[in-house]
Amino acid sequence: MDRPRVLSGIQPTADSFHLGNYLGAVRQWVAMQETHEAFYCVVDLHAITVNPAPEELRRRIRIAAAQLFAVGLDPDRCTVFVQSHVREHTELAWMLSCQTGMGEAARMTQFKDKAAKYGESAASVGLFTYPILMAADILLYQADQVPVGVDQKQHLELSRDLAQRFNTRFGQTFKVPNPYILKEVEKITDLQEPTAKMSKSSSSPQGILDLLEQPGPLRKKIMRAVTDTGTEVLADEENKPGVTNLLRIQSALSGTPIPELEARYAGQGYGTFKKDVAELVVDSFAPIRERTEKLLADEAELDKLLAAGAERARAVARETMAQVRDRMGFLPASS
Ligand code: TRP
Repeated sequence: MDRPRVLSGIQPTADSFHLGNYLGAVRQWVAMQETHEAFYCVVDLHAITVNPAPEELRRRIRIAAAQLFAVGLDPDRCTVFVQSHVREHTELAWMLSCQTGMGEAARMTQFKDKAAKYGESAASVGLFTYPILMAADILLYQADQVPVGVDQKQHLELSRDLAQRFNTRFGQTFKVPNPYILKEVEKITDLQEPTAKMSKSSSSPQGILDLLEQPGPLRKKIMRAVTDTGTEVLADEENKPGVTNLLRIQSALSGTPIPELEARYAGQGYGTFKKDVAELVVDSFAPIRERTEKLLADEAELDKLLAAGAERARAVARETMAQVRDRMGFLPASS
């Protein structure tokens, strides 16, 4: 009964999660609901750092939430909620931002990359303080572990520093969270550019497999995936990044170790292999897409699930926030 607590978040910035999100994060969240006390949130407040249109944001929050339930997160076994439904996230973010140095925030490599991409002055202050909001997400729930990809490790370091700093200054308030770095074996790359990560922001549509995509386009993308010179189906990151990526996908979705797959296709060339990968992807995604569509067809019911999740999350967040206010010297709002 004393399960470690985890908290993680995913941004609603696309009309579908892609295979990299699924294998690299969400599918592992599903497994963790059995072993951990898990809180998972759709981080809609983080998503506005790129200024989506209101109707787009609204749609994507519901799509993200529906997909989380569709992949197997069970409201009886974990808490799924929308970040903005729990007001304490923004409140704590402000308080933590007053504990964060400008230089400290300016060192975040993700911000530096994005600022370089958009231009320093086009980048919003929200993009700059994004990691502080993430720290608030984590610290509010007194999370023991935070499942994230390696790209979020520096942000987690900041969360730990802020927790320790606050505890030293104001007395023990926050648990210092540990990273739980998600499995690297499942690193999925762009189908057209197999040395680059599959990424919503940098891959072309042809390079991405979307969880909610129809079988036709999925098959086409896999059959047209860049493979390598030669004919052998072998995992070789250096010389055969394209084939290696497809092998990883097949292995992750089927549970078959890569050497066994290599043996299966020995002497067969790429054709059969690609066809098999395509069918496997189609069969794996179809039930998720169907469940997502069903959940999205009944918005009232979906919103009810999210309201229940927010209620449970709020109970925890409220308690932490009451302590934070008191420790920092704020007056109670009512007698
Ligand atoms: N920054 C994370 C990402 O882009 C998303 C995120 C926001 C998150 N808040 C979080 C992840 C809290 C873990 C915990 O992937």
